[in-house]
Amino acid sequence: MDGLAIYPGSFDPVTNGHLDIIRRGRRIFPHLVVAVAINPRKNPMFTVEERVEMLRESLQDEPGVEVDSFQGLLVEYARRRKAAIVIRGLRALSDFENEFQMAHMNHRLAPELETFFMMTGQDHFYISSQTVKEVALFGGDLHGLVPETVLARIQARAQKSLD
Ligand code: PNS
Repeated sequence: MDGLAIYPGSFDPVTNGHLDIIRRGRRIFPHLVVAVAINPRKNPMFTVEERVEMLRESLQDEPGVEVDSFQGLLVEYARRRKAAIVIRGLRALSDFENEFQMAHMNHRLAPELETFFMMTGQDHFYISSQTVKEVALFGGDLHGLVPETVLARIQARAQKSLD
């Protein structure tokens, strides 16, 4: 399919669920931009630079995938990048309401932009950045849930917050 697709998110941090969506999405959209949102109202565990770095390290062997960051409205960023598609992963019913609202708001702001939903893989539907951070904080095993580069960083960060 022609045209640029954007996969936006907080990616705080990237999980194997995100990587699954990116790899599967890339088969449909050969040029995919993973875009880390800079949201001053959130209090992330990792800086934007760290989140971008972890994504780049995890995706270095993935052709056609670019990692970028953006501030402000997603639709403005999509216009600047001349993207036609926004990809979002859907885990469970609980994701639906927020995603539904976001897709409609984005469509109202930019009717030319289409949101494309992908079901999260069956091995990943229970993984979220939020739960991963919580498990890390209490010393749980994260192998298989996040890429190796994230594993090391999140454990160090969790340890620091307990010191
Ligand atoms: O990974 P997340 O936190 O679910 O991603 C949410 C994200 C970053 C895609 C969303 O908050 C977003 O698009 N933020 C940019 C600001 C914006 O456009 N907000 C209006 C959406 S209706």
